[in-house]
Amino acid sequence: MEKMPGVRAVLFDAYGTLFDVYSVGVLAEKLFPGHGQALSVLWRDKQIEYTRLVTTSNDGAHYQPFWDLTRAGLRYACKRLGLTLTPAFEAQLMDQYRHLTAFPENIAVLQDLKARGLATGILSNGDPAMLQAAVQSAGLVGLLDYVISVDSLRKYKTHPAAYALGEQATSLPAAQIGFVSCNSWDALAATWYGFRTLWVNRYALPFEELGTQPSHTGSSLRDVTLLLS
Ligand code: LAC
Repeated sequence: MEKMPGVRAVLFDAYGTLFDVYSVGVLAEKLFPGHGQALSVLWRDKQIEYTRLVTTSNDGAHYQPFWDLTRAGLRYACKRLGLTLTPAFEAQLMDQYRHLTAFPENIAVLQDLKARGLATGILSNGDPAMLQAAVQSAGLVGLLDYVISVDSLRKYKTHPAAYALGEQATSLPAAQIGFVSCNSWDALAATWYGFRTLWVNRYALPFEELGTQPSHTGSSLRDVTLLLS
């Protein structure tokens, strides 16, 4: 039985969900042997913390695009770990972030969704230039009906106005939109917002402990097509 009845569009989170940020960790390890893992985790955490900081402070007066917050997060993480981030290292790491590969199952999943007549898209904190570069590097051009960035809004997920962009772009109510994310906080907030959610738990992590579960949990993006069969 179909587990996402009435869903007519599927929107995906970008970083960590469609695009594999692991390659950044590999390069970080090459540049800072023994610290690659710690650096990539702290970098990611700081990047997301900064999105919340600028969204909740002073009505967005301190907003910066995701690319700039990503760079700021990298600089912070290196300082915190006592690593010297030379301009050349920074350029290499940021360039790697711009050209991420897609997880291998993505193309087949997007093709499958389109073959079923569903609309597909990205709903991401990434700014439009970052998203365009990532969509191109990952070979996803033509498989996405919508590439929605919160940048026009100047508010990051998990602000409800960021999720509302998904409804506005697709002209569908939240209950008819499937939302897929590997980030548990994103899957949680999208569930609170009213989307039908799939949390793709690639790394066998616990879900958030705030009393709400995602509509569904899986381990690969392929699970979204199983839910729609
Ligand atoms: C995004 C980040 C949060 O793409 O993964 O929105």
